[in-house]
Amino acid sequence: MQNQKDIESREDIATVVRAFYERAMQDPDIGPFFTEVAAINLEEHLPVMYDFWENLLFQTGTYHGGMMYKHILLNQQKQLTREHFARWLSLFEQEVDRHYAGPVALEMKKRARSIIPSMQLKMRPSMLPLTEGRQPGRRNIQS
Ligand code: HEM
Repeated sequence: MQNQKDIESREDIATVVRAFYERAMQDPDIGPFFTEVAAINLEEHLPVMYDFWENLLFQTGTYHGGMMYKHILLNQQKQLTREHFARWLSLFEQEVDRHYAGPVALEMKKRARSIIPSMQLKMRPSMLPLTEGRQPGRRNIQS
């Protein structure tokens, strides 16, 4: 769309993130992770997401980590598949594009896309902390 502005502030990030969560939480495929598996409190969760993105896009130092671990725990309760990640990314990119255009909007989409493979890697059984059912030939990392 023409005449769209770029992402410039925490408020702009909040616009994208809120729109994404409105759709993601109602999505038949990924919605249950938010509404049932983690049963998030949206009002508490959203500011954490703003912190995360503000830190990535504007280096504010507002997010203090732990997001990989939360998804590892999530994946232990209900498996996060390639299809789930693809759906997450598709909804996320749609909401960025619906609201903003420019280098920062592009960077937001690029960062989301590039984080996914490292999340998937950490979810491989051999990478899980203290996994049950150790498998021969696989390293069991405790961290
Ligand atoms: C299939 C894909 C995904 C699903 C279903 C999903 C779901 C969730 C859920 C349910 C939580 C809340 C966990 C809790 O508080 O216990 C969460 C937290 C979070 N997610 Fe995701 N997520 C996905 C992918 C991603 C990706 C690709 C990113 C980053 C680009 C991301 C970033 C975050 C962050 C920053 C948090 C907050 C962690 C914290 O509380 O510190 N997620 N996610």
